[in-house]
Amino acid sequence: MDIKRTKKIDRARGLVKTKQYLFKCPICSGQMFIDDHKSLACHNNHSFDFSKKGYLNLLTAANSPSYSRELFAARHQVCLAGFYDPLIDKLIEIINAHFPDNKAVLDAGCGEGSHIYDIYRKTQEKSDNVFAGADISKDSINIAASNNADIIWCVADLAKLPFLDKTFDIVLNILSPANYSEFQRILHDEGRIIKVVPGPQYLRELRGIIYQGEKTVDYSNREVVKYFRHKLNLVDTYDIQYEFAVHDELWPHLIKMTPLIWGSSEEKLIDILNTKVPQITVDLMILTGMKKLLD
Ligand SMILES: C[S@@+](CC[C@H](N)C(=O)[O-])C[C@H]1O[C@@H](n2cnc3c(N)ncnc32)[C@H](O)[C@@H]1O
Ligand SMILES: [Zn+2]
Repeated sequence: MDIKRTKKIDRARGLVKTKQYLFKCPICSGQMFIDDHKSLACHNNHSFDFSKKGYLNLLTAANSPSYSRELFAARHQVCLAGFYDPLIDKLIEIINAHFPDNKAVLDAGCGEGSHIYDIYRKTQEKSDNVFAGADISKDSINIAASNNADIIWCVADLAKLPFLDKTFDIVLNILSPANYSEFQRILHDEGRIIKVVPGPQYLRELRGIIYQGEKTVDYSNREVVKYFRHKLNLVDTYDIQYEFAVHDELWPHLIKMTPLIWGSSEEKLIDILNTKVPQITVDLMILTGMKKLLD
């Protein structure tokens, strides 16, 4: 028997048991608890097992996620290299400014999990803190749970989150699709939604190499920001811009971590792999918003 695996699943069960009050049954919307079989269940006997890695799959319908395991594995290497560190530090500053003591944080669309794990790791540990990550891709949550314990990991659709109303202080949504109605439902009235979107120069060197003049290199986030303002009360925006020095070993991972190369031929991919650049521009915008309360 693989002792390490057994430990992981038990650790995850223990963690979820202390936070079971967060969960809503994805089938009947009832409250959930860890039952005698050590599964997460509701009073209508809808039951969800923990995977060996320690995550919960709370999807009720099959889906075919658009991102590959390879993309998440590449993203993981890029995160480990510190590519997003200045962003993470700013997010921690914002989170701590609003919630200096205990906080419940969900990363909705967390991918391979490094962002929420880094926030957890760098945030002073408090026993009542909650850190959770949800993503529709089983491959991504598998990587997340393999690498990082101490976070509640769920395979779930952000359009139908398996959490009760008003359970989180912060919903993070980093470079991922959003569902603002659902985010507002699970957020406390004083909570914050923190969304990260690419700025116009994000990965511009990579775009330049891949598109080679076929398309415009700049990206516009105007519509995304407009929609955020329409759905939420926009509180603040922050621009994060820096250059990241790229080591040779990181280059293939950087190329494979985004959908930008999708559609490129094998030949073009080899070309891109051979066209290394010394540094890559990171240009991100953080939007913070509060609920639009109806009454
Ligand atoms: C570009 S990746 C970003 C992942 C991560 N936030 C990061 O910055 O590395 C977009 C993520 O959104 C997830 N996603 C897309 N649609 C989703 C949905 N309906 N529910 C949950 N996650 C979703 C994808 O599986 C993917 O992990
Ligand atoms: Zn149920």
